[in-house]
Amino acid sequence: MLNSKHILLIIGGGIAAYKSLDLIRKLRERGASVTPVLTRAGSEFVTPLSVSALAGTEVHSDLFDLTKEAEMGHIQLSRSADLLVVAPGTADLMAKMAHGRADDLASTLLLATGTPVLIAPSMNVRMWDNPATQRNVATLKADGIRFVGPNEGDMACGEYGPGRMAEPLEIVAAIEAQFGDGPLAGKRLLVTSGPTHEPIDPVRYIANRSSGAQGTAIAAALVKLGAEVVFVTGPADVAPPMGVEVVKVQSALEMQKAVEAALPVDAGVFAAAVADWRVASSSESKIKKKNGKLPVLEFAENPDILAQVSQMDVGRPVLVVGFAAETDDVLANATAKRKRKGCDWIVANDVSPATGIMGGSENDVTLISESRSEDWPRMGKQAVADRLALKIAEALAV
Ligand code: CTP
Repeated sequence: MLNSKHILLIIGGGIAAYKSLDLIRKLRERGASVTPVLTRAGSEFVTPLSVSALAGTEVHSDLFDLTKEAEMGHIQLSRSADLLVVAPGTADLMAKMAHGRADDLASTLLLATGTPVLIAPSMNVRMWDNPATQRNVATLKADGIRFVGPNEGDMACGEYGPGRMAEPLEIVAAIEAQFGDGPLAGKRLLVTSGPTHEPIDPVRYIANRSSGAQGTAIAAALVKLGAEVVFVTGPADVAPPMGVEVVKVQSALEMQKAVEAALPVDAGVFAAAVADWRVASSSESKIKKKNGKLPVLEFAENPDILAQVSQMDVGRPVLVVGFAAETDDVLANATAKRKRKGCDWIVANDVSPATGIMGGSENDVTLISESRSEDWPRMGKQAVADRLALKIAEALAV
């Protein structure tokens, strides 16, 4: 909830300005008051009348409005807010902010404030990718400005890529997180991530190609929504995210112990690529070559950690989410896997080498529950994580 929080919302000139109308409604539903500032370009996309009707207050747009200067002043306007939100954050507004320009009301407010600022960028993919914009983003981030989005997808201009403004609910979640009051505040979640290493002897092991990128992104997304996260990770390529309790493990058996120790949790997300088998009796000392005689490795099955937690009689998490990494018949195999293991949702993905997903930066998933399956467009692993985290927050809220 955002009870009695005061948001100053700067609406820049982008096609996504229409989403800011919904954002105002959602913020007010959660108890926030919204003071809208509409740039001149913004008023080409939404009318001051619709903005003020939804905000329930007048719209500010003119820097040199003497009556308002006498009544309140632009400096006061920005200082009385708990948070400044720029949505849509256009390339032009971000450039002005990065360079400290103040040639209209919006840029003057942003320069004059000491209040935290959150930007929801929105622009054409080439404008976003342009080195000038990326330099400005880096400058603003270094200045402590927070970002939500942009998302990747089809754009109003007909192109595809990053640049779409985050959805109003995502912006609301980022605002709540800014106040330390995300939708997952007070919830404890467990995330498993990365591969496991199954020892053959002290120097050799059996592993898989998981980088840990998807699990790491999910843990980060849950933290952003205010959750307390226990992050049980195998030896991954990527560093654990900020703000989680990290438990590092090597083998499936160690991961099982760490998961048991982390319980109880409100929800568990099992993104680790756990080895199905281990060497039954790994050697205490290094196995030596023996004149062409090849070693024979005997395997034992590892415990299925996801199935074990899903099937707990007492203290089962309210929501258990598994992953299904498949190379054939992805949907059918994942649907069967969800039932067999007993988890609530399964995130199915095709890890055939041609997809470039295993170890890559993108994912193409279908979220399967008992009653439905949702096919998500291919997107970055962080975007998958953000979307999944929001879904988890919704599920835990009921
Ligand atoms: N998993 C687990 N413990 C295991 C094996 C898998 O917790 N010993 C979890 C993974 O973290 C993932 C899900 O189970 O959430 C599915 O993993 P996957 O490797 O796709 O399934 P398997 O059980 O290995 O099934 P199969 O080998 O038949 O595809």
